[in-house]
Amino acid sequence: MNLILLGPPGAGKGTQAKRLEESHGMAQISTGDMLRAEVKAGTALGLEAKALMEAGALVPDAIVIGMLGNRITQPDCARGFILDGFPRTVPQAEALDLMLDEKGLKLDGVIELKVDDAALTDRIAGRFTCAKCGTGYHDTFKPTAKAGLCDSCDSTEFVRRSDDRRETVAARLDAYHQQTAPILPHYASKGRFYTVDGMAEMDDVTKELETLLARIKG
Ligand code: AP5
Repeated sequence: MNLILLGPPGAGKGTQAKRLEESHGMAQISTGDMLRAEVKAGTALGLEAKALMEAGALVPDAIVIGMLGNRITQPDCARGFILDGFPRTVPQAEALDLMLDEKGLKLDGVIELKVDDAALTDRIAGRFTCAKCGTGYHDTFKPTAKAGLCDSCDSTEFVRRSDDRRETVAARLDAYHQQTAPILPHYASKGRFYTVDGMAEMDDVTKELETLLARIKG
């Protein structure tokens, strides 16, 4: 099954995509994670992306489209994929349509996680990740079971994203409304477009997604 998870920064795309990856074996493809890996590795692409990401702006379409095109041909995508953070502009959505046609692939569903803007800043500003295994947490909504200790690997080191500062979040939300929200009608007009309430508790969002996936599978 091939899916797109859409929604503003902090909507829960990454959280839910990881859970669906575990329960269904589809590959989670996060263009944000791919770009952060390039930044960390200090590649030319990473250097170009770094300042834009830290300012809360989008990286140029040509870069992310090229990256995505290579990624969806990798073996782990044979069982399907969940796109998390792509497409983010109308040209990216159009490029994806072409790519899928060329590869003989189709989208089984495009799912929008709908969340009020007011909730997003608190969600993002409280987010942190285990530096060793990457498990995601939140100061309020998903703290570690034991203070300062990762639930999954017992590591005591955690990291926060450099674009998760409150002032950058405002720019990211602005980019979402200006550049990404216009792709919603692109998919709504094609059918197989679904909206899920992302304001619900994390586990309830997962349940709603699982119900939807069962319906999509038929
Ligand atoms: P990216 O990494 O894609 O970030 P984003 O879309 O801004 O989304 P986030 O990762 O911040 O949020 P999320 O929806 O995954 O929420 P999460 O599950 O973590 O992109 C970063 C940057 O890369 C962009 O700004 C851009 O510069 C660049 N980029 C990436 N893709 C690009 C593209 N295609 N084109 C151009 N540029 C691109 O949840 C957030 C927090 O809330 C967590 O702490 C979580 O625990 C908590 N939470 C989740 N769900 C709930 C819930 N239901 N209730 C309470 N708390 C919750």
